[in-house]
Order: sequence, then C-alpha cells, then structure tokens
Amino acid sequence: MPIKIIVLAAGKGTRMKSNKPKVLHKLGGRSLVQHVLDNTKTLNPSAVYTVVGYGAEQVIEQLADQVTFVQQTEQKGTGHAVQQVLTHLQDEDHVIIGYGDVPLTSPSTFEKLAALCNETQIGLLTVNFENPQGYGRIIRGKTNKVLGIVEEKDATEEQRKIKETNSGMLSATGKNLKLLLSQIKNNNSQGEYYLTDIFALAVSQNIAIKTTQPDFQWEVSGVNSRQQLALLERIYQSSMAEKLMEEGATLADPARVDVRGKLHTSTDVEIDVNCVFIGTVILGKNVVIGPNCVISDSTIGDGTVIQANSVIDNATIGEKNIVGPFARLRPGAITKSDTHIGNFVEIKNSVIDNGSKINHLSYIGDCDVGSQTNIGAGTITCNYDGAYKHRTIIGDNVFVGSNTALVAPVEIGSRATVAAGSVVVKNAKKDQLVISRSRQTQIDNWIRPRKK
Ligand code: UD1
Ligand code: CA
Repeated sequence: MPIKIIVLAAGKGTRMKSNKPKVLHKLGGRSLVQHVLDNTKTLNPSAVYTVVGYGAEQVIEQLADQVTFVQQTEQKGTGHAVQQVLTHLQDEDHVIIGYGDVPLTSPSTFEKLAALCNETQIGLLTVNFENPQGYGRIIRGKTNKVLGIVEEKDATEEQRKIKETNSGMLSATGKNLKLLLSQIKNNNSQGEYYLTDIFALAVSQNIAIKTTQPDFQWEVSGVNSRQQLALLERIYQSSMAEKLMEEGATLADPARVDVRGKLHTSTDVEIDVNCVFIGTVILGKNVVIGPNCVISDSTIGDGTVIQANSVIDNATIGEKNIVGPFARLRPGAITKSDTHIGNFVEIKNSVIDNGSKINHLSYIGDCDVGSQTNIGAGTITCNYDGAYKHRTIIGDNVFVGSNTALVAPVEIGSRATVAAGSVVVKNAKKDQLVISRSRQTQIDNWIRPRKK
C-alpha cells in the first residue's frame, strides 16, 4: 500500500515573534519542516502534502519541488487542515500525519507509527509527560482501550491530571480519514475543527486505536517559542555529538561542537571546542581540528591538522597538511598533500601542490602553485585589475621572497627565485632570479635635521 505523508505547516507561530513562518526557522542548519520531510523519507512515501497558510509563499519557495502544497487559507484547526488534503487521498492509502513544527521525530518512530495503520485501526503516537501542560490528553477506558483525546482547554480537572498526551502524529487509511473527518464539528472552547476528535468518532464506529511511543520525549517536542527552539537545538546537537563519538571521533567537549548539516568523520578524528560544521564536511582519518574552527562544505584528507581559529569554506584539503592557526580557505581552494598554510593566509580558487608552504600573511587567489614551493610572508597575488580576474602560475621549487606582489596574469617558472619586496609584472623563466625593487642607497655619516 502506498504511504502518503501530510505535514501541517499553516500556523503562524505567534509566540516566535517573527516575520518568518515558524516552520522555516532553522535547527541544525535546516528548517524545522525540512527535518520532518527528511525524517519521513525512509517510509518511501508516494506523495507528501504540506498544508500551508501563514507565509505560504515563503514556505513554497523554500520547499520548492519536494512536496505538493495544499492551501489552508483560514486556520480553522488541525482537523480542518487535514480536510484540505482529502481530495488527494485514495481509500487504500496509508496516511501519516506529521507537524511542521515538530522537527525531531526519528525515522524509526515514523516507521512504528506507519506499522499500526490498517483498514480497521488507526495508529497514534503518544508520550507521557511529567508536566503534560498544553497537550491534548489521552482518555483510556477500563480495559486500557483508547476512547478519545481531550484538548487541555476542554478538559475537566480530573482529565488534566492524565500524563499520557497526544503528540499529534497519527497514521490512518485514506478511507478512515475521509469517513471520520466528515463528521468533526467545531463546538469546542476554541471554535476549531480538531483533528483529535476523530479518535472518539473512530471508537464509536468500531475502528480501533493503537498507540506507540517514541524512544525519546523530545521526538515529539514542538517549537512554539525561541526558547523551545534553542532547547531543541541543544538536544539535536548533543545527539549529533553522540553519533560522532560512536563513530570513533574524540570530542574535547560534546556540548561545544555544532553540526549544521552532515559531518562525516573517520577513525581517530579529534575535534576541539567551539567548532562549527556547516553543509557537508568530510574529515579523513586522524584529522585534528583545533578550537574555534568554522568548516563548511569541505573535505579534509587523512592526517591533516587544522589549527585554531581557521575558517574553511568549499575547500578540498589533502593529506598531512598543516593549516592555521587563523587560516582562511575560500571556495575553490585545493591543497594536495603535506602543504603548510599558515596564519593569516587567505586562499581562494587556487591549487597548492604537494609540499608547498605559504606560512604567513598572504593572499593567494586564482593561482596555481607547484610542488615544494615556498611563498614568503606577505606575498599577494594581484588577481583583479578592477574589471577582470587573472591567474598566477607558479612552478615547482620556486622561492618567492617576502612582501612580493605578483601582478596577474603572470607566470613564475620552476626553481625561479623572486627577491623580497618585488613587484612582478613580467613572467619569470625557470631558474631565474627576479629582483624588482629600487636599489638600496647608503650615505655615510648622515646627520638628521635637528629642532632649533
Ligand atoms: C495539537 C493537538 C494536541 C496535541 C498538540 C501536540 C489538536 C486539536 N490538538 O494542539 O492534542 O497535544 O498538537 O503538539 O490537534 N495547523 C494548521 N492549520 C490549522 C491549525 C494548526 O496547519 O488550522 C498546524 C500548525 O501549524 C501546527 C500544528 O498544526 O504545526 C499544530 O497546531 P497547534 O495549533 O499548535 O495545535 P496545538 O494546540 O498545539
Ligand atoms: Ca503546538
């Protein structure tokens, strides 16, 4: 039977005090609703419907072609939201309902919920809270059978003491949803069409309710405020840290590493405190990341050490490199093996071949550096003429003296030596010495001017 997912995401999220729809706020670098979509992927749904209302254009723009959008122009309740999707459902569909503001439900919990769905029963995800405030309460009969759900605002004093609460997530066939949702009314304290009312209706029509619970309470925690968002972010980050350690990484402090995307680590990776990983980052074996590094969408080869305070974005770093402290590698920076990229060195759109060193205070942009070349402190590739970018080509075993400006386009042949302080505007052939600076003048017994 085909599985279809409905994600409710029409609410405004008033308590976020934001111009952005709540479901687009980010957790671990991805929007809340994106987490729900990603976590239901293992169910292989034949369709995903996202009910949008408040800020619909923004949600549609963000999720683009991942889902089918269904408009709920007025937010008249969760039951009303699901009613908008009914025309898309076939009787035999198995439908899972998730919430765009409940991001951390695990794929295995969704699978457990899906397994409870058939023609004669509805699956419901419940959770026991010591403090169930704000949640709908699960009403069970004498034989422990679920009889229905009562919203807190409609609950009696006695019912409010119930600790088993409604996560909101459920699984039901298209046929049962159509049957039951056609019967719900809005005669409650909020004047809304409650999705939760389908449970009492189901019982009266001999449709059983089977419950399951998630492994962790936070899997059903919703985001209603910035405080709750921050809380869930920490929970998410600690679960990411846990996973990294299980895979063999050493974390100096699991509470001080943030993963905003996918971080792939290999054995014996070490990560110091306050590192942020963004997008897809791949770390090879024995890679060491010093404190305060920010690394986005990059690959780092085996045995490389990234020292403190380095910022690396869209770079490919080879094996056994030493990078930093305070290095900045920008998009298109490629280093082969055994290179040294030192402090206050910026590299962009350049390839640095095996064993070359750029140890201090340099800008290397749009440049090819051969192997075993030494680029002295303060070397700058002048790659931009105000209109166009040009390349600098530097051969193998070149020595570039300190404080050199290489005015591109320019080529320095292999084994050439560029004297310190040169401004190089013409190509240097291999094995040449290039000196391009004014000659030093010296005057003996020079007397400085004196104040009268
Ligand atoms: C709902 C449940 C409650 C459960 C709680 C769990 C109902 C009536 N109550 O309450 O039993 O314990 O979730 O968090 O279902 N939405 C729409 N359109 C609407 C209304 C809501 O798309 O017209 C979406 C919201 O964007 C949100 C979700 O549905 O993602 C839940 O709505 P919300 O108003 O937060 O429901 P709760 O009062 O929290
Ligand atoms: Ca809610």
